[in-house]
Amino acid sequence: MPKLFHLLCSPRANSESLAAARVFLDQFRKARPEWDIDEMNLWRDHLPEFEGYILEAKYARIGGKSFTESQRDAFAIAERMAVRFSLAERVVISTPMWNFGIPYKLKHWIDLISQPGLTFRFDPARGYLPLVKDRPTVVILASGGDYITGLNRGQADLATPYLRQALHVIGVRDVQFVPIGPTNGPAEPVRVARETAHRRLAELAARF
Ligand SMILES: Cc1cc2nc3c(=O)[nH]c(=O)nc-3n(C[C@H](O)[C@H](O)[C@H](O)COP(=O)(O)O)c2cc1C
Repeated sequence: MPKLFHLLCSPRANSESLAAARVFLDQFRKARPEWDIDEMNLWRDHLPEFEGYILEAKYARIGGKSFTESQRDAFAIAERMAVRFSLAERVVISTPMWNFGIPYKLKHWIDLISQPGLTFRFDPARGYLPLVKDRPTVVILASGGDYITGLNRGQADLATPYLRQALHVIGVRDVQFVPIGPTNGPAEPVRVARETAHRRLAELAARF
């Protein structure tokens, strides 16, 4: 069964990014009822701290050394997470903007799956080489302010360029960003931003 992977990154019950993801996924289910939707909630699933054996394993890989048994066991958790992601033919990431970037749970997940020999490799002559197959990906980014131009009151949206690069390095390049903002403040601009994003997502989902 083909699979869509949804990475859910907001801890809020009334999350705007999650509500938008639900609009997208409802439409996607109608268009492709035979698809399996695999949802990972970063605030529910356990993410191991990136220290100790798993960290040693990463450095062992970088240094071309083989794993000890403890390193192999620790690394297996990262491997399972990366495989769960890379097995999906489609990806949806729904996330808030936090302090101009991404929530630490999403960064934690990226740190876990971005491993040499697993999702990318490094060649001294050619640089970073991706190991993940490209697949259509949508990133839904909810922010209190409106960053449609990349800036809000002189502050830059660092979440979009960071996510674009983190995904690009491992091979995921067919990425569309759907911003929702403002989600805070006067009701009318919030409503317009929400409706615009929902409309765009429903259209995208029908041909995703
Ligand atoms: C810790 C934290 C940091 C935030 N930082 C920003 C920010 O830098 N820029 C912004 O526009 N909104 C910021 N917000 C507001 C959220 O982006 C906004 O409420 C958004 O709707 C959250 O997504 P969600 O509704 O899916 O949880 C922040 C909220 C929190 C809790």
